[in-house]
Amino acid sequence: MKIPLLVPDLPAAEDLLPYLRRIDASRWYTNFGPLVRELEAGIAARACAVGRPAQHAVSVSNASLGLEVALLALGLPPGSRVLMPALTFVATATAALRAGHVPVFCDVDPETWLLTPEIAARAIAQERVDSVMPVSTYGCPCDAPAWDAFARASGLPVVIDAAGAYGNQACGARTVTVFSLHATKSLAAAEGGMVLSADAEYAARVRHLSNFGIDLSAVDAQTAGSTGLVSREGTNAKLSEYHAAIGLAALARWDASSQRRIALHRDYLAGLGRRCPQARTQQRDAAGVYSIFPVRLPDSHKAADAFRVLGQQGIGTRRWYCPPLNQHPAFASLPVAGGLDVCATLGEQLIALPFHALLSADDMHAVIDALAGFLDA
Ligand SMILES: Cc1ncc(COP(=O)(O)O)c(C=O)c1O
Repeated sequence: MKIPLLVPDLPAAEDLLPYLRRIDASRWYTNFGPLVRELEAGIAARACAVGRPAQHAVSVSNASLGLEVALLALGLPPGSRVLMPALTFVATATAALRAGHVPVFCDVDPETWLLTPEIAARAIAQERVDSVMPVSTYGCPCDAPAWDAFARASGLPVVIDAAGAYGNQACGARTVTVFSLHATKSLAAAEGGMVLSADAEYAARVRHLSNFGIDLSAVDAQTAGSTGLVSREGTNAKLSEYHAAIGLAALARWDASSQRRIALHRDYLAGLGRRCPQARTQQRDAAGVYSIFPVRLPDSHKAADAFRVLGQQGIGTRRWYCPPLNQHPAFASLPVAGGLDVCATLGEQLIALPFHALLSADDMHAVIDALAGFLDA
């Protein structure tokens, strides 16, 4: 593609060198080494907004496993039901299934394209639900204080799948937040993730579950010198020191890289508003840090044709998330709470345009010109 959909923007080799030298010196490559701890501390410190509770950050090898261990750490019985939007990436549902839980799909708000506490409140009045997993879809943040209030009122645990929303999604007092550090995300470590919670005991359980379920603090005089006790089986979701090195180098240049994304997003919105009024955008903060730029076209044929026509012009696009999860064979028999009309329509009409920190202004204008030409034809 002349103008690719996504171009990862990871730190250069020379920016990694100081961190790699530290790994050489320590010979500590994984298992919660000093770089992993430093990355966790850096992300936890940045997550503490004024007046909000301190966060405990636990690194994971990717957000899919992060979501899985975040659900396991809630301690709900197998077969518990997790409410989630049908308009999301497959990992939201697979994480729940792999944790032994059952996804329950529900609809999203027609403007923000998010599962909101109001939609969740209607859904739990119809279907049995044991936890809720809202998604910061396309990087648009969920309303953390509103989800805190929902968790308090309903008594249900809330785990926010904020995989694509690092830099946008605020962390709540009661809600758990999971970010991805995948190569295409705003803060990228090639692969990686972070689970944040204000609850220190919960965060400790997440850490044990990410380390096979081993709880070293449970070792007593009888078991001293052992590899620890497992009270709940976990998995290996540890982040390596090499990935933490990339994450730390990315965090060191976060201010510049996030400013670039903010400026690009603003310019894109302005250009589309002028040239493509038929293309509607997600109701989200124009000054956010995004890694995906979806637009809603007037109907499903336009979205399918735009993918083909822009592709012929060398412009990469993707129909995220088409179809919604309930239409995938693997998930088709899962329960649904209420209708999924908005998810179905958005699944057909959304198309993501090229958007990444390295996109030039010329290429952005070329994409807008191509879309305007297609929509006006
Ligand atoms: C909504 C959502 N959840 C989960 C994931 C999985 O993240 P990871 O690739 O870090 O496993 C993604 C990845 O793009 C995502 O978009």
